[in-house]
Amino acid sequence: MSRQTLLSLLEAESGAYVSGEEISRKLNVSRTAIWKQIRKLEAEGYEIEAVPRLGYRLIGKPSRLSLHELLPKLATREFGRNVKLFEEVGSTNDEVRKLAEDGAPQGTLVIAERQTRGRGRMGRSWHSPAGKGVWMSLLLRPQLPLPLTPQLTLLAAVALSRAIARVVPLPIGIKWPNDLLVNGRKISGILLESAAEDERLKYVVVGMGISANLDEEDYPEELREKAVSLKMATGLTVDRAELIAAVLDEFERLYALFEERGFAPIRALWEAHSITLHRPAVLHTPQGPVEGVPESLEDSGGLRVRLPDGSERTVYSAEVGETANP
Ligand code: BTN
Repeated sequence: MSRQTLLSLLEAESGAYVSGEEISRKLNVSRTAIWKQIRKLEAEGYEIEAVPRLGYRLIGKPSRLSLHELLPKLATREFGRNVKLFEEVGSTNDEVRKLAEDGAPQGTLVIAERQTRGRGRMGRSWHSPAGKGVWMSLLLRPQLPLPLTPQLTLLAAVALSRAIARVVPLPIGIKWPNDLLVNGRKISGILLESAAEDERLKYVVVGMGISANLDEEDYPEELREKAVSLKMATGLTVDRAELIAAVLDEFERLYALFEERGFAPIRALWEAHSITLHRPAVLHTPQGPVEGVPESLEDSGGLRVRLPDGSERTVYSAEVGETANP
């Protein structure tokens, strides 16, 4: 008996119970075999209710992303127009990098239902379970001096927070450089990876992870305090295709603004969403902790920090934490 046959049988009952005995008779299989297949369907995201004496009932299906659903929602000219959707990849950033090396155009997008080796910033892994998040990477081919690449990191954070706010009513803050938080818990992360040749930027891969519909039990224990999904924060299941279309739309608009008017308007938008500026913090840099008050953003994307002795210092890479005595 294939899972598909069992599923068709449950679907045919449109939400009514089918007894184990009936399934067993119709499909000519044992009760144990049915139970095993039911467990597999559940692991794929089907919700099946099992009630003694009544049998099984299909109450929910996994929401799969499909290009049929996504493409009509796209309002962009370039971003996401060349798109690949995978059931499973190691990391969508790696898939886009391969396509970029083969000459794929700017705006190329790779989306995956699940990543087996999702990467985060600072060498961390990124938890990317199946069917519930938005795990995707976008290819950019900017005409930008290499040292200014971090400006795109900040642009991406603004694009994502504006897009999420279009889809769900949530107060989203940007923690420098590009973590999106809701009430202090992380809802989304961005990983920019670039390729350069002879000091020239060749392309940039913008990896975006949005915890859309994850439930508490989808997170490993160590993330439960720190992370939250849009669904957990609002009680609403998010239409992932709509969210992806909103991200691409915001991204394309901000990128056009950036190309036309430079970093200044992006900086202003980033500052308006920032929860890092003007609050005492400890910046955990690779060289050790720096305590102070972040005061502004530099053109390099670095954070200008006022130290307790009144001097200033720019931090380029760090994890921002709160101070013990703010
Ligand atoms: C972070 O906050 O540490 C960045 C997380 C970035 C995760 C996304 S998910 C899609 C893309 N592919 C990856 O392997 N990482 C990024």
